[in-house]
Amino acid sequence: MAAPGRIERFIEAMGIGPGDRVLEIGCGHGVAATLVCRLLDGGHYLAVDRSPKMIEAAAKRNADSVRAGHAGFLVGELESVDLGARRFDKVFAMRVRLFEDEPERARALVERWLAPGGQLFVEYDAPPPRERSKQS
Ligand SMILES: C[S@@+](CC[C@H](N)C(=O)[O-])C[C@H]1O[C@@H](n2cnc3c(N)ncnc32)[C@H](O)[C@@H]1O
Repeated sequence: MAAPGRIERFIEAMGIGPGDRVLEIGCGHGVAATLVCRLLDGGHYLAVDRSPKMIEAAAKRNADSVRAGHAGFLVGELESVDLGARRFDKVFAMRVRLFEDEPERARALVERWLAPGGQLFVEYDAPPPRERSKQS
């Protein structure tokens, strides 16, 4: 079996349970969505991405889960999307710029959607080596 890649390792570290309600911000092509949906049994996955093109691609890639009612894909921006009264046990974002540029603001935006005991998981891109040496 191939060694797990970046997305596989991240999803594994979240410890998703079968009944979890999971929200992903910035799903891109929906690769993580596929991995999350495999772990769910009774839970639900929702993706929000501001790019209609990415949402279309991600929904197509995960069409079986959408048809079965296990996954949803929504065009929207973290800053303004309306998720109504929905709450989530696990919220995650991988390589979504706002979490890197304005982490406190991004966290505050997500907190309104966390269920009691809910968790936020974030992955950033590592800065390029030149920037890293500038910071030290
Ligand atoms: C660099 S891609 C990463 C895709 C995927 N998460 C990954 O790690 O491979 C960033 C994605 O986040 C979306 N995005 C960026 N800022 C966003 C925001 N403020 N609200 C919603 N989606 C956002 C982009 O449209 C893009 O699809």
